[in-house]
Amino acid sequence: MEYLYILCFLASCYATLNNKKFPDDFMFGTATSSYQIEGAWNEDGKGENIWDRLLHTNPNFTVNGDNGDITCNSYHKYKEDVALVKDLNVTHYRFSLAWARLLPNGHVDQINDAGVQYYKNLIRELRANNIEPLVTIYHWDLPQGLQDEGGWTSSDIVDRYADYARLCFRLFGGDVRYWMTFNEPKEFCWQGYGEGTNAPGIKAAGTGEYLCAHHVLKAHATAWHIYDEEFRSTQNGQVGIVLDTNWYEPATNSTEDKIASDTKLQFIFGWYANPIFRGDYPEVMRNNIQRRSLAQGLTKSRLPEFTPEEIEYVKGTADFLGVNMYSSALVAPIENPDVNAMGYEADSEVRDWLSENWKKGASPWLVVTPWGVQKLLRWIKEQYNNPRIIITENGYSDYDGTLDDVDRIDYIQQYLSGVRDAMDEDGVDVFGYTVWSLLDNLEWVYGFTNKFGLYHVDFNSPNRTRTAKKSVGFYQNIIRTRCLVDYCIDIQNYW
Ligand code: NOJ
Repeated sequence: MEYLYILCFLASCYATLNNKKFPDDFMFGTATSSYQIEGAWNEDGKGENIWDRLLHTNPNFTVNGDNGDITCNSYHKYKEDVALVKDLNVTHYRFSLAWARLLPNGHVDQINDAGVQYYKNLIRELRANNIEPLVTIYHWDLPQGLQDEGGWTSSDIVDRYADYARLCFRLFGGDVRYWMTFNEPKEFCWQGYGEGTNAPGIKAAGTGEYLCAHHVLKAHATAWHIYDEEFRSTQNGQVGIVLDTNWYEPATNSTEDKIASDTKLQFIFGWYANPIFRGDYPEVMRNNIQRRSLAQGLTKSRLPEFTPEEIEYVKGTADFLGVNMYSSALVAPIENPDVNAMGYEADSEVRDWLSENWKKGASPWLVVTPWGVQKLLRWIKEQYNNPRIIITENGYSDYDGTLDDVDRIDYIQQYLSGVRDAMDEDGVDVFGYTVWSLLDNLEWVYGFTNKFGLYHVDFNSPNRTRTAKKSVGFYQNIIRTRCLVDYCIDIQNYW
């Protein structure tokens, strides 16, 4: 009886996990970002960025007053970190360039040679170990000098970013095949210039996040065109963007909730993806924001408009789409929406919340909902005509950074299964998956309290000692077998 029970348990367990091998060329990787791991905030000529400024002048912004001054000290320990990446046996490593390390005041008229050398060394070390570098040009750490000139809400930033991107292509493009212009613009535009909960901490909800996004989209498109015209023929790389969203599950089967789900996805994801993959902002955004702006007594929409030429210029500017997906939420329309409420969430006129029944990670927004990833990937495929997708982030946070991180193992296994299901059952074109993160690191406002690493970092030791968690062995095994369960069907080589 007990034997039967175990068998049934195993069967039902495995029934939910995909048992097809991942394709031979599927890329498995891991990721970090500059401010979260590098430290050396003012060494070797690096300039100040908006996070340095915010957390030095306002330490209460983060839990325990943590900041990125030293964090994992990866600036000095990059060789050790590449050795960890190598040991994982991954195909790729996604990291970001610190704009102020390369250009201390943000402008290309002053280049910091030590910063250039640092990233050349890092890329060389990766290549020497057969690891493909995936380079994010901007992961939230704007040089303070550019913020003083207006930051992402000033139209000048488009040219500053274009100069910076061109420099990155010129300096490093010989050894880089995958570029990502921006990481999660929705987060840094909304939290940085709308809600004010991230650097530079500006509260201008309802206008700030839209202006920021408008400039980000133009900057992204300009960088893509620069690459296309000046570098592609010699460097043969690809340029994409990384967008983030939850899956938004309709709270009930009602038509209203299904529409609310789509509206939410348009406001979060379509805001950036629609101009790039289809042209212009999603219709529901244009309509809602225009209607609400007029009702607020304004003479025109708070959502900036693209000219017809700009729509064409931005459209088609992604060789691949990076998707950061961790979590899901339930969604329904707001009944009697307050027309004076400001912010992109208010403008969407839908509300979302987490079900009490879902298992939580340490991050307040993270719930373990692996079933959401397949639904999201299917939605993206249908909306944007089957783009090439790489999951650029997915991962699980805990508080204690335990080495026995079985919850992280379960999470990665189940989400990867959802990704494989989407490839198998829906024909979604996913070519890679990236665990966030290589290391426990500075989780922005949550400081060092939310730990996502495959490797534990001892932040109390001056050496910042790294120790493999159990998930390292688990991920190594998946990469070796390309399989999530004990035995996989190899559909690629079946016939
Ligand atoms: C989003 C961001 O890209 C990254 O910086 C952050 O640490 C993780 N996801 C987890 O929140």
